Amino acid sequence: MTSDLVVITDCDLPGTAADDALTAAGLRVRRAASPSADDIVAAAADASALIVQWAPITGELLDRLPNLRFISRLGIGYDMIDVEAATERGILVANTPAYCLDEVATHTLAMILTLGRGLVSYDRAVRAGRWSAVDARPMGFRPAATSVAVVGYGRIGSLVARRCAALGFHVVVADPMVPDVDILADGLEPAPLEEAIARADVLTLHAPLTDATRHLVDGAALATMKPTAVIVNTCRGPLVDEEALADALESGRLAGAAIDVFESEPLPASSRLRALDTVLLTPHAAWYSPEALIDLPLHAADNIIDHWAGRAVPAIVNRVAATAD
Ligand SMILES: NC(=O)c1ccc[n+]([C@@H]2O[C@H](COP(=O)([O-])OP(=O)(O)OC[C@H]3O[C@@H](n4cnc5c(N)ncnc54)[C@H](O)[C@@H]3O)[C@@H](O)[C@H]2O)c1
Repeated sequence: MTSDLVVITDCDLPGTAADDALTAAGLRVRRAASPSADDIVAAAADASALIVQWAPITGELLDRLPNLRFISRLGIGYDMIDVEAATERGILVANTPAYCLDEVATHTLAMILTLGRGLVSYDRAVRAGRWSAVDARPMGFRPAATSVAVVGYGRIGSLVARRCAALGFHVVVADPMVPDVDILADGLEPAPLEEAIARADVLTLHAPLTDATRHLVDGAALATMKPTAVIVNTCRGPLVDEEALADALESGRLAGAAIDVFESEPLPASSRLRALDTVLLTPHAAWYSPEALIDLPLHAADNIIDHWAGRAVPAIVNRVAATAD
């Protein structure tokens, strides 16, 4: 009897750790030639499982993969997978929820502190021969006088919120799925989204990309923000209307932004954000550490290995389908 086939649709990580772990567990592994639907079908027509990084997994594609039972996302966000379509077809979807929480929270804190203390503009000024604490910086906040609004109080958002509170910031939390009592129990202030955005000196985003969160921060929301405020985005680019953000930054309606994730990645060469001194850019790198790079492919493979071995897979995100199977 041939063993089940796992197809890796796309993966820009170095090495073959996932392939090796799956093979060692007795599964066959194949890589698609490209993340296009046709190349995925060519590689995975008889596959039982997929590992997916960025390839769009639509209902139409799933209809062309009749043996598929499991999709493991190489990462935390699973917005490129139509989970509803998978659930309707009895296909389980899992992510890798724990591989980089500390890294993303730390990257976010670094962005907040770098923007808030004006480190980039100070550095540029000193190199250009200027020497002034008062003139060079766009912002020089005192934590106790600064409100950080955390949107999304999940694994990463709650870490960011607690770390900001530990540094002395006033933290306001907006998450419609988390009861206010839980946020209050953590010593933080719950607030509706609109109020959190309007009160923020720092607005930091930690919600998943869904139909409900796409352009959560649009031109109308930006218009309610303080002109001295900054936005930090380490979750998903499309939560922010990037054109509206560029308008607000160019016009001085908003003081700055630190952005790790973009509406289109890699960030297009023509992006207006590249020209703005008040913007700090990183290349979807908040997750990265050497340790996370080791954990990520292994966690994605382990979801499949554990499921095939009959062990529980806590990372399954559409468990309803599992129990209905
Ligand atoms: N930049 C990176 O390298 C990187 C790495 C990992 C994760 N991420 C992104 O970070 C996101 C968050 O990760 P996590 O592990 O904290 O996820 P999580 O599922 O633990 O938490 C997400 C939180 O967002 C909340 N939420 C959902 N809709 C909301 C809304 N409309 N308004 C406010 N809150 C809302 C949920 O209730 C949940 O508490 C992921 O979805 C992923 O897209 C980015």
